Amino acid sequence: MRAVVAGRLRCVSCGALVPVSTALSWRCPNAVAGDRRHVLVIESDDSGGDFVPDDSDNPFVAFRRMLAWDAFAASTGMADDDRRSFIERIDGLVAEVAGTGFRFTPVSCESRLSDELAFSSSGGVWVKDETHNVAGSHKARHLFTELLHLLLAESRGLAPWTASTRPELAIASCGNAAMAASTLAAAVRWPIRVFVPSSADGVVVETLTMLGATIERCPRRDDDPPGDPCVLRFRERVAGGAVPFGVQGTENAWCLDGGRVIGWEIIHQLGRDALTHMVIQVGGGAFAAGIGEAFVLAGCSTALVAAQTQGCAPLERAWRMAASTGGTLGAGPRWSDCMWPWESTPTSLADGILDDETYDWVEVCDAMTKTGGFPVVSPETDVVAAYELAHGFTSVDVSPTGSAGLAGLLTLRSLNRIDDDARVGLVFSGIRRGVDPPTLR
Ligand SMILES: Cc1ncc(COP(=O)(O)O)c(C=O)c1O
Ligand SMILES: [Zn+2]
Repeated sequence: MRAVVAGRLRCVSCGALVPVSTALSWRCPNAVAGDRRHVLVIESDDSGGDFVPDDSDNPFVAFRRMLAWDAFAASTGMADDDRRSFIERIDGLVAEVAGTGFRFTPVSCESRLSDELAFSSSGGVWVKDETHNVAGSHKARHLFTELLHLLLAESRGLAPWTASTRPELAIASCGNAAMAASTLAAAVRWPIRVFVPSSADGVVVETLTMLGATIERCPRRDDDPPGDPCVLRFRERVAGGAVPFGVQGTENAWCLDGGRVIGWEIIHQLGRDALTHMVIQVGGGAFAAGIGEAFVLAGCSTALVAAQTQGCAPLERAWRMAASTGGTLGAGPRWSDCMWPWESTPTSLADGILDDETYDWVEVCDAMTKTGGFPVVSPETDVVAAYELAHGFTSVDVSPTGSAGLAGLLTLRSLNRIDDDARVGLVFSGIRRGVDPPTLR
């Protein structure tokens, strides 16, 4: 794969530039409380050479030299070896709480599933199993670069606090992202507040409590503007001084840095052009944005396909709106024409991808455009069928959200939009928690 070095951050919406050396550069300087239609993305320079990963089974160490975090740390005068050992030290703390540090997660061709979906012998489905990653999903990857940034800024005297006066971390989520954020926060003993829907209960809330997170329930208020009330309360807290510690690029751009690691990892494991398509379930969009950007930077030919459900598909709407207002590439300045909250109450068995706005839609549209990809919207019947197939034809104990990329693939197969020879990648992320395993017919 091609070697790239992060140079600066650039807002996809207003074009503002922020040097990668800027500490705590979470949001575009032009994003204001009532208008978050800005997101800083990492601009990297292609060095022209091939990238040789550092020898490590920790992907953050292996791909460190392409991370914006590494460029940020280098800008503070930190030596190369010290940057590597910084990551390894924090990873060790994470392992103490999570039972594992960050390690390459397995990816393999699922032959039974491939046969069931009638792929030819040259085609098939490759599944990356993220269910045994830190906190049971890919989410901790996004948060790890935020944590590294915070700890580095603190240790180099670049933050307006010290280890004993740390401001609270904040996140809006009651699923995998909250579990990941609370796990990382517990690893470094950093206080965290988690904004959850008023209905939240069960194993996730119990685990968050056990991890020491402060849980704040967020019923919709009569005077709330449209949008998720958990996100609204989260933003209020951030305005009051909390550190945004979530997985939406609009709130903290540094989640996009770690989000790319899984893409580089897939290319490293399978080869640059092993897959024809990568179908990724999309909620807020940071996941697909990270994989898509990694693929684009690596110069790989895999088409990024963004999967949503009929119950909530603001990205697919934005893709159409972008196409009809000037094109799907670089649509950030047309944000208000393309992306707004999904009007009806989102519902699906894949309840982790029901974000009513795809916050990172610009980067996902860019990556789909550059890779020849496209969005797909699945009927709920395919979401249910995908969950059943995942459990019947693979050994991964994945959640319905985690198998939603497979739902996208089912839908595309039934529309004859992915042929028998295609080699399709999926990420089964999000271990099954508190959901009954499907009963196969
Ligand atoms: C298992 C799983 N897959 C995919 C997603 C979607 O990620 P994003 O919100 O970054 O689009 C989520 C988000 O909660 C998730 O939990
Ligand atoms: Zn901006």
